[in-house]
Amino acid sequence: MLVDGFGRELTEIRVSLTDRCNFDCVYCHNEGLGDTRGPMAPQDEEMSTEEVLRVLSVAADLDVEAVKFTGGEPMLREDLEEIVRRAPESMAVSLTTNGSFLPDRAEGLVEAGLERVNVSQDAVDPEAFAEITKSGAYDRVIEGVDAALEAGLDPVKLNMVVFEGTAEYIPEMVDRVAERDGLRLQLIEYMPEIAGHPEWAIDIERVHEWLAERADRIETREMHDRKRYFVAGDEGEGMVEVVDPVENETFCENCHRVRVTHDGSLKGCLNRPRVHPMGELTEPEIRAAFREVVADRVPYYGEFMIEDDGEWIRNDEYVGEQLVVEEAPITADDD
Ligand code: 5AD
Ligand code: SF4
Repeated sequence: MLVDGFGRELTEIRVSLTDRCNFDCVYCHNEGLGDTRGPMAPQDEEMSTEEVLRVLSVAADLDVEAVKFTGGEPMLREDLEEIVRRAPESMAVSLTTNGSFLPDRAEGLVEAGLERVNVSQDAVDPEAFAEITKSGAYDRVIEGVDAALEAGLDPVKLNMVVFEGTAEYIPEMVDRVAERDGLRLQLIEYMPEIAGHPEWAIDIERVHEWLAERADRIETREMHDRKRYFVAGDEGEGMVEVVDPVENETFCENCHRVRVTHDGSLKGCLNRPRVHPMGELTEPEIRAAFREVVADRVPYYGEFMIEDDGEWIRNDEYVGEQLVVEEAPITADDD
């Protein structure tokens, strides 16, 4: 098990399989790389099936317990089912998707071993949906959510990014998860660090307050200090969680993940620009890069950024840091 200098164990990885996407959500941070999306055809720099599997196998050896595939849109990869099927036995496998390809592939993915899915859905209305995602695939996404539930991916988590453009749809999204068994809602605070437009952010405390009024029951989870709001529906109960990482030191203290970019680098923090290339993706190189990225990990809020008179400013220690870490030397004592 790898542990960083702040006592945070590495237990999960989030693997971007491509930076291509068939949507163009206005808020998209593209896993911390900004707008890198290019043509929709497969790109040379994407990791191959075998490279992805090698990264997973090294991660499993290092006791990483869970992998979440993401993108761009990970379902643009034709080999997703194969990757899921061949992922290490010891790892829990989940997927974050825009849902538009789930109608045809949810069942196959479950057969391959997929255990959980998050589907991005920001509105319950096709027009609002189109405005946010620049896509006309609303019906496909709704079908995709149904297909995921039918395939046994229960609970399906709906990801809704909360910002100026979506806040008004929160009540109807909450109603939807209250009414439909198997659905959960994750209200994700808009992160402007990489996506830009800080003026789009809204005060997430207001969302908590609104939910506290609307909920029949509230639970606080120790991990991340996150609240769960339960709302009654006709035939049961829906659950709503708020993910509010912005300026939240507790969130960063509890972060146990690193990211793998579509082109085969490690990224220790979504918000920090630093990437650690994994060379030609041989096993020893991958292993060395994992050690290095974990050694380099720091909580973003509370260490990389510090509070000064109510303002978050960059800690002097990190001013002028290199964005790309030199490839890790493969040392002889690497076990
Ligand atoms: N802020 C918060 N969440 C975001 N996502 C994408 N961009 C942002 C952002 N700027 C989330 C969405 C999507 C997932 C891949 O990442 O919830 O479902
Ligand atoms: Fe970004 Fe996901 Fe939207 Fe695609 S579906 S544009 S990856 S947030």
